[in-house]
Amino acid sequence: MIGVFDSGIGGVTVVKAISDTLSEYDLIYFGDLARSPYGNKSPKMVTEYALENTKFLIDKGAKIIVIGCNTASSYATQHISEKFQVPIFEVVSSAVQSSLQVTKTKNIGIIGTRGTIASGVYKRKITDINESVKVYSNACPLLVPLVEEGWLGKPETSKILKKYLHPLKGKRIDTVILGCTHYPLLKSVVKRIMGKNVHVIDSSLSVASSIKEFLLQSPEIEQKLSKKGKLRLLASDITKQFEKMAKSILKKNVPLEYWRL
Ligand code: DGL
Repeated sequence: MIGVFDSGIGGVTVVKAISDTLSEYDLIYFGDLARSPYGNKSPKMVTEYALENTKFLIDKGAKIIVIGCNTASSYATQHISEKFQVPIFEVVSSAVQSSLQVTKTKNIGIIGTRGTIASGVYKRKITDINESVKVYSNACPLLVPLVEEGWLGKPETSKILKKYLHPLKGKRIDTVILGCTHYPLLKSVVKRIMGKNVHVIDSSLSVASSIKEFLLQSPEIEQKLSKKGKLRLLASDITKQFEKMAKSILKKNVPLEYWRL
């Protein structure tokens, strides 16, 4: 099965994208709700949690690991790849590839948690591939709580997002990366603010297509994956909000299972 983890609620957007793209494969998700959010924590802490989550999913039978959380992808990918032998996917590289495929002006904007933006990983990965691309980023720490409160269509959310996106406007940006698990739920608001000529890259969709491509090219791994289309959602804490958001993102009721690491 494919194992996905995130700090908590938002990673369900990644699960949704993967299960829509690769519906026949069994998927196991671990949301580390008890220790979330990761976005404001130190690299050391996030890396420690990410390594524990990976081991947990591999022990449960995952043959591929997807780091669904942008903050954990930014800080912990290298550590996880060094420690575990299974193929590791993460949301940052996939979103970088997608953004480079569509940008014409070579000006790309990134929004994410404080941790993701402070790590500079998006900028590094983009300029490693194409050094002529200019990258503008802004941390948006208020967006995660707004999304978790379900304030998606509220004027207050739109106003805050406008303020966060303001530094990215007027920079000839034609591509914005939604560098956080929660932001796909704000995609239409970002599109409205940035204008119709700006591509909005959803990292959950990007990672789903990277995995699909990989499986087509790696039959030896693909054969190891169970294919009953089963989805399990595990979490280190279960709250009403998590239940509500999981149901609304997945558009179906999947029971949440409590697991302590
Ligand atoms: N999952 C985190 C990310 O994508 C956002 C929520 C958090 O801060 O834990 O960066």
